[in-house]
Amino acid sequence: MPLVNSKELFEKAYKGGYAIGAFNCNNMEIVQAITEAAKECNSPVILQVSAGARKYAKPVYLRKMVEAAVEDTGLPIVLHLDHGADFEICKDCIDGGFTSVMIDASSKSFEENIALTKKVVEYAHAHKPYVTVEAELGTLAGIEDDVKVEHGAESYTKPEQVEEFVRRTGVDSLAIAIGTSHGAYKFKPEQCTRDPKTGVLCPPPLRFDILEEVSKRLPGFPIVLHGSSSVNQEYVKIINDNGGALVDAVGVPENQLRQAAGMAVCKINIDSDLRLAMTAGIREHMKAHPDHFDPRQYVGDGRKYVKDLVKHKITEVLGSNDKL
Ligand code: G3H
Ligand code: 13P
Ligand code: ZN
Repeated sequence: MPLVNSKELFEKAYKGGYAIGAFNCNNMEIVQAITEAAKECNSPVILQVSAGARKYAKPVYLRKMVEAAVEDTGLPIVLHLDHGADFEICKDCIDGGFTSVMIDASSKSFEENIALTKKVVEYAHAHKPYVTVEAELGTLAGIEDDVKVEHGAESYTKPEQVEEFVRRTGVDSLAIAIGTSHGAYKFKPEQCTRDPKTGVLCPPPLRFDILEEVSKRLPGFPIVLHGSSSVNQEYVKIINDNGGALVDAVGVPENQLRQAAGMAVCKINIDSDLRLAMTAGIREHMKAHPDHFDPRQYVGDGRKYVKDLVKHKITEVLGSNDKL
């Protein structure tokens, strides 16, 4: 099975009431952890690459590692560009074998977003084989690549804009802003309530009313959620118990993501949770074995933690297990 685009996977996910996990990858251990977990869960999966990942690992290494994962697992895997900032990076990825790209012109005006998205769609859809395109309307808080959007400066997607946007661009899927945000500090403490027993922050709920309105206006159309790490507190605790200092890290509760996956959301983006799992595995190993200096020992533990996390996401959050 070669790399696939996201079209059929999203059609099946929409009808089946589940979402496909889009996990960010930067190195071999993360690619292996994600794809081995997906294999054991009989799940399709999206591996996505940001501009930062391309800079860190070089595009050719990332593409070859993902191709190796396809060969190793036989899974339908989508190789997706995350947050493509301009036409050139999208073109470069399409020409270089990516099967899906995101053009993120969400910080531009509505008309500029339409014009740029349409240009990428025309190029991607003319490509053989067809490359699927994701765009974004509305802006999330948090950091993505070099752009930092302060809390309070984010803006929810306006449902009244989505039909015109999809019709005029021909885009295949749409990321919307309903209160998720990038990174491991998704909400400021003053936006949350605090559990008096554990001291852990409880974030404000996602705007399901916006998601419902968008899906009513775009029946059958796949919606994407970025910034969907849950910042599972068990990993934060392992990190902090082993020399880390993550204070008031908070994410989107998993039950809300499960609810969204049962609606029009077909792709859920997760990066920060992988980083936390990898860090937890490595820190725990380093503290327990101060004499170890072989990276295979501690990075191997990080890889195991990422794999366990991805299995948990697939079965308990996304619902994409046994959907091959
Ligand atoms: O949306 C952002 C992703 O988490 C990628 O992060 O730009 O640090 O690779 P990065
Ligand atoms: P998180 O920071 O919540 O993992 O979001 C990742 C993401 O949206 C990648 O595009
Ligand atoms: Zn994102």
